Amino acid sequence: MDRSCGMGLPVLLLLLLALSCSAGALDNGLARTPPMGWLHWERFLCQVDCDEEPSRCISEQLFMQMADLMVSDGWRDVGYQYLCIDDCWMAPTRDKQGRLQPDPNRFPSGIRKLADYVHSKGLKLGIYADVGNKTCAGFPGSRGYYDLDADTFAGWGVDLLKFDGCNFGTLELLAEGYKNMSHALNKTGRDIVFSCEWPLYERPFRKPNYTEIKQYCNYWRNYADVYDAWGSVKNILDWTSYNQDSIVDAAGPGGWNDPDMLVIGNFGLSWDQQVTQLALWAIMAAPLLMSNDLRQISPQAKALLQNKEVIAINQDPLGKQGYRITKENHFELWERPLSGGAFAIAVLNRQEIGGPQAFVFSTAFLGSGLACNPACSIQQILPTSEDLGLHNWVSPLKVVVNPTGTVLLKMVVTEEKLFDNGNKRFPEFL
Ligand SMILES: *[C@@H]1O[C@H](CO)[C@@H](O)[C@H](O)[C@H]1NC(C)=O
Ligand SMILES: *[C@@H]1O[C@H](CO)[C@@H](O)[C@H](O)[C@H]1NC(C)=O
Ligand SMILES: *[C@@H]1O[C@H](CO)[C@@H](O)[C@H](O)[C@H]1NC(C)=O
Ligand SMILES: *[C@@H]1O[C@H](CO)[C@@H](O)[C@H](O)[C@H]1NC(C)=O
Repeated sequence: MDRSCGMGLPVLLLLLLALSCSAGALDNGLARTPPMGWLHWERFLCQVDCDEEPSRCISEQLFMQMADLMVSDGWRDVGYQYLCIDDCWMAPTRDKQGRLQPDPNRFPSGIRKLADYVHSKGLKLGIYADVGNKTCAGFPGSRGYYDLDADTFAGWGVDLLKFDGCNFGTLELLAEGYKNMSHALNKTGRDIVFSCEWPLYERPFRKPNYTEIKQYCNYWRNYADVYDAWGSVKNILDWTSYNQDSIVDAAGPGGWNDPDMLVIGNFGLSWDQQVTQLALWAIMAAPLLMSNDLRQISPQAKALLQNKEVIAINQDPLGKQGYRITKENHFELWERPLSGGAFAIAVLNRQEIGGPQAFVFSTAFLGSGLACNPACSIQQILPTSEDLGLHNWVSPLKVVVNPTGTVLLKMVVTEEKLFDNGNKRFPEFL
């Protein structure tokens, strides 16, 4: 297995390699950890009719309500910072000076006012545009206007741009467009996180060059849009593990693979599937962009999304993306190297029939033998928080996982003695 640069090396070397592996990321000082926030698309789509759907249409009111809740309900304080507008915010044409303008019925106060409001709450505003002639929903695209649009967004006080790839034309125009917009954003002098879909649109035709992409983008979509459905989350995980050799090493401080929005708190995922989405998005060092209705979210989904230990794994400063290390029967074992020589471990039960199933594995299998050597303390983080105590490197570890659920663990290596009688969970071993 040669997929992960630095795998199996001592911690100091890992740290040094982490620095060299992340060299070449977009040099704008942003997204040193995966961005966190809220994005309207999956839950609110292109809901434009404010007369028929006043509370669900894409409007300044919707974003102001979400901004209020991000503060009052504790989202901002655990790290969800970017409030992001997706497609369908624009008027159907540019103004007389050629500038993009918001739909006047839905954003009567303008984007500058909305940005001021969002900033007054200690949050940041994200907006959406497209590299081609038209956005995916048919609104004006940015081709031919990259500098003007970047200046417009900077002038409004926008902090993040999601740049879609619909109607991109040729592959050359696609690549040039993303590069030119990246330069245009830089030239504005404003800190603007740049979210790309370049590899998603390129991949059907040729292999994306991630060395190049990460020089221009802070994060990038690789695969299809997430839906509010287990089948969609499963497909994203399968795609990611299948392609991990080519994408995992691209991730690092400043540039991240984006498996798309968190759909937790909506309609389509069971509790266990919501746990799986958050656990695996943490393992994948994914941007955590929720798409849900913060006005109506269950306390359980809210507590899950605000779980500080999971967020800490997602935001780990080492910035290495995790990967699947094995698939046995219907279990998948994933790990993510963390700072300080710690590891996050996810055990996913892919069986969709029956009840909870036990999975037994050796800690010697993790971190190329280093995660629990000579010993480690293990904390279960999801689905519930539980101290699993000290283990040594040959301890068999047993977890019980619900169908389509995940057990997320954090292992911290210790210098404890090899044979630890305090390990009461596995007396059968000694
Ligand atoms: C789309 O963009 C290309 C490249 O700028 C341009 O040549 C073409 O005329 C545009 N097509 C339409 C339909 O606007
Ligand atoms: C990108 O910028 C270069 C240099 O200004 C220009 O020649 C090229 O036409 C631009 N490409 C696109 C797609 O805008
Ligand atoms: C623009 O790019 C330069 C050089 O890559 C970098 O030092 C600077 O921080 C960037 N500025 C912004 C606003 O992104
Ligand atoms: C990928 O991009 C990098 C940086 O632009 C370049 O040095 C390298 O040659 C490219 N690789 C391929 C296979 O084209």
